[in-house]
Amino acid sequence: MAIQKENIHGQWGSSLIFVLAAAGAAVGLGNIWKFPFMAGENGGAAFVLVYLVCIFVVGLPLLLAEILLGRRGQASPINAMTNVATESKASKKWSIIGWLGALAGFLVTSYYVVIAGWAARYTFRSLENEWSGVDAATIAGEFSLFRGDGNALLIWGSLFLIVTMFFVARGVKSGLEAVVRYIMPVLIVILLGLLAYAFSTGYIGEAASFMFKFEPSKLTNEVLLSAVGHAFFTLSLGMGAIMAYGAYMPRNASIAKAAVGIVFVDTLVAILAGLVIFSVVFAHGLNPGSGTGLLFETLPVAFGAIPGGWIIASIFFLFVTFAALTSSVSLVEPFVAYLVEKGLTRIKAAIAVGVVCWLLSIGSALSYNVWSDVHFWKGTFIDNMFYITDNILLPLGGILIGIFVGWCMKDTKIRREMKPANEFLYLVWRIAVRWVAPIAVIYVMAKGFGLIDYIVGMFA
Ligand code: PHE
Repeated sequence: MAIQKENIHGQWGSSLIFVLAAAGAAVGLGNIWKFPFMAGENGGAAFVLVYLVCIFVVGLPLLLAEILLGRRGQASPINAMTNVATESKASKKWSIIGWLGALAGFLVTSYYVVIAGWAARYTFRSLENEWSGVDAATIAGEFSLFRGDGNALLIWGSLFLIVTMFFVARGVKSGLEAVVRYIMPVLIVILLGLLAYAFSTGYIGEAASFMFKFEPSKLTNEVLLSAVGHAFFTLSLGMGAIMAYGAYMPRNASIAKAAVGIVFVDTLVAILAGLVIFSVVFAHGLNPGSGTGLLFETLPVAFGAIPGGWIIASIFFLFVTFAALTSSVSLVEPFVAYLVEKGLTRIKAAIAVGVVCWLLSIGSALSYNVWSDVHFWKGTFIDNMFYITDNILLPLGGILIGIFVGWCMKDTKIRREMKPANEFLYLVWRIAVRWVAPIAVIYVMAKGFGLIDYIVGMFA
């Protein structure tokens, strides 16, 4: 059976819009908030280098595979997987990739909107010129006061979620496409402006050497797993977001070119954002390893010390908020699209998904205050969300995508969709998806969970 029908949700206006949309999904809190603080905590360069290897060896081939599945399947990830599996005479149970992805989407959204809410709140704080001349201790105190206020976190997170669902409810053309069409170019301009500012601090060299100086001793199994997990997270891989977007990609656009473009933009933004942030941090003698608070505790100190710094601060936090919005819409789109295929209207589907995400976000918002003492497994509710999504669900989705495309999907079907222009590169990609990516991810997961040491120990 061949999949002829076009999906019912519509299409991106052009292949450039697809790249912008997918790059918008990829570039987000992962690049600007998570990547710099993870690098800061894990010794900078050690983390950055492993992360870059993961992006090119595992991320790029799987990204290509995920776009391919979406465009071939012409439906929401759950149904797209059923379609491509049927076409290749594989089990329909492969729709599990879509279901796991939907679960990951809900869990990521539950914390994503809360952190994005911080960025939105800090945009307004910057506009009110709250940091001017204020010392580090006061700013840190204010941040913990803000985080300690469950209501505030809930309100800002909810506002962000409502804006997200508003655009998703409007559909592919007038919702998602409208968001990326205007926001992405603005983001690029803002980032270049911030970069110019980072140069003017004179500390960009120090920032670069912090990010790229190789220190192998810092490479623990945990760092390895978090680098792989982050590679998935930052590319929005393994959970269906890219697959859903791929289904809206024009049929004649090149999948390989688009994938390369997305990886390029995402990696560049992470590195440039890191350079901007660490230049500011070093220029003011602050601590690069301050964890999740790097953006909200450390940077405002620096902004407050610069004359007119509130302008840069406002632009910076607006940048973070916008980047988060182009990602959050992609987190919920897969399941909203699924519900629409089930017969719901877009608006009803968006409300249903929004309500579930909102309920889950309560757990994340309260993790920093009312429930900060409730620890289980990896820590608070939000710590568990981070761990389950980044270190388990997304890599697992990636392994399954690699296995399906590498081993179960018929070569003729892949070729028909990919139209490979270069046989050699096609072969390299096939090997990467078939062998390298699944084995590497399984190995790193097993190592991260201590399984390998356990097995080695049994024979020692
Ligand atoms: N890639 C996004 C970021 O870096 C997060 C994300 C993950 C978005 C998974 C969609 C799907 O912020």
